[in-house]
Amino acid sequence: MSKAGDSIGIIGIGYVGLVTATCLAELGNNVVCMDIDAEKIDLLRQGGVPIYEPGLAELIGKNKGRMTFTTALEDVFSRCEIVFTAVDTPPTFTGDADLSRVFAVVSALPGLSSNRHILVMKSTVPVGTGMKISIELARQEINNIDYVSNPEFLREGSAISDFLNPDRIVIGSREAAAGQKVAALYQHMRAPVLETSIPTAEMIKYASNAFLATKISFINEIANVCEEIGADVTEVAKGMGYDKRIGSHFLKAGIGFSGSCFPKDVTALKQIAGNSGYHFQLLTAVIEVNELQKRRVVNKLKKYLGTLTDKTITLLGLAFKPNTNDLREASSIVLASRLLGEGAYVKAYDPVAIPDAARAVRGVLLCDDTLSAVEDSDAVVLVTEWDEFAHLPLAEMKQRMHQHLIIDGRNFLDPAEVKAAGFTYEGIGRS
Ligand SMILES: NC(=O)c1ccc[n+]([C@@H]2O[C@H](COP(=O)([O-])OP(=O)(O)OC[C@H]3O[C@@H](n4cnc5c(N)ncnc54)[C@H](O)[C@@H]3O)[C@@H](O)[C@H]2O)c1
Repeated sequence: MSKAGDSIGIIGIGYVGLVTATCLAELGNNVVCMDIDAEKIDLLRQGGVPIYEPGLAELIGKNKGRMTFTTALEDVFSRCEIVFTAVDTPPTFTGDADLSRVFAVVSALPGLSSNRHILVMKSTVPVGTGMKISIELARQEINNIDYVSNPEFLREGSAISDFLNPDRIVIGSREAAAGQKVAALYQHMRAPVLETSIPTAEMIKYASNAFLATKISFINEIANVCEEIGADVTEVAKGMGYDKRIGSHFLKAGIGFSGSCFPKDVTALKQIAGNSGYHFQLLTAVIEVNELQKRRVVNKLKKYLGTLTDKTITLLGLAFKPNTNDLREASSIVLASRLLGEGAYVKAYDPVAIPDAARAVRGVLLCDDTLSAVEDSDAVVLVTEWDEFAHLPLAEMKQRMHQHLIIDGRNFLDPAEVKAAGFTYEGIGRS
């Protein structure tokens, strides 16, 4: 808990910022939440929640007395010693992380307050950014702001539990006292605290995401080989996962990793390496395997349907993973545009992402439920493994569909159940 009368500031109230703010409030802190998006701040002031994240609305409701919302940076710096930044760092066209939002915050700092502050970076930023910010602060003769890197590892869909029960807390700082003040915010969490230099903290975040993405591309390549030789990747992964040196996480074959973090962070790390003169060959392959994996579904459809021109294909699930409405870099978007490019009609249903999908996937007929989405369809592709898809209404689907093919892009369905209902089933890497 921060000291009495002191609040914690959060700049950038998106998936990470809002979860961070809410969890810090849940831990007993007062938090001042700032975002440049006035509509978002208005919605939060009125008790609304701009994103879908399980348990978040309830936790905000519970802690609303400790959370205030503003669009003014002055409000944050007048009340808070510790200020987190969780603005977005999307990819640029080169694949480097776009730091314009981070530097928009840094350049707004002069004259904000003469009190001492700690600026804590929660956004994922390339190695060297902390150093650049320190130089920029010195250039602007700002001597009252210390800088701490505190990368975030939460996963959308289980963000609250991930934030409150982290595997580790990474604190990168130049001044130990500043780092320790930030570490104190997490003192009630049972997690190892790793105090490092700022570049090391920045690298831990990228290396972690790149390693997980590598595991996914690895098992996807194994899946592709399994298809050639008649083995079952789900059993292979199980057999590998029992080995403690390997572990069972992130060994699920499917249509590739997606979302707002892995694709951009893997590409950004490749760029960081390249910009410093090192060609990161392994990551180049990880990215390429992932791109091809999304497209393999199109070939699977063609194998059964022939040409896709004028065929109707239904996508079940649009969000990049279950339990979120986030569509950033979702596999569904790539798949939908490939299918539209092949001349197919594309229909889709997602339990929560439909309002956001209207903007993100153009040309797709968005439906209110599974049954209306499969009406007159030639094939279903399961894209996101939402719980409600675990037991599809197969008998009714069969009556409504034109042809009876299910491509299970997440190896989520029970093949025996699907086949018993009269469908042709094909998963990923399952013979
Ligand atoms: N989403 C995740 O699962 C996740 C997990 C770990 C780390 N991260 C990292 O955290 C950062 C934030 O990700 P996100 O998914 O929460 O992004 P987001 O797009 O959901 O939220 C970013 C927020 O920052 C606001 N913003 C932009 N510029 C601003 C400015 N100058 N002042 C104030 N607010 C501003 C935007 O309006 C938006 O509300 C990224 O660097 C991301 O890589 C994300």
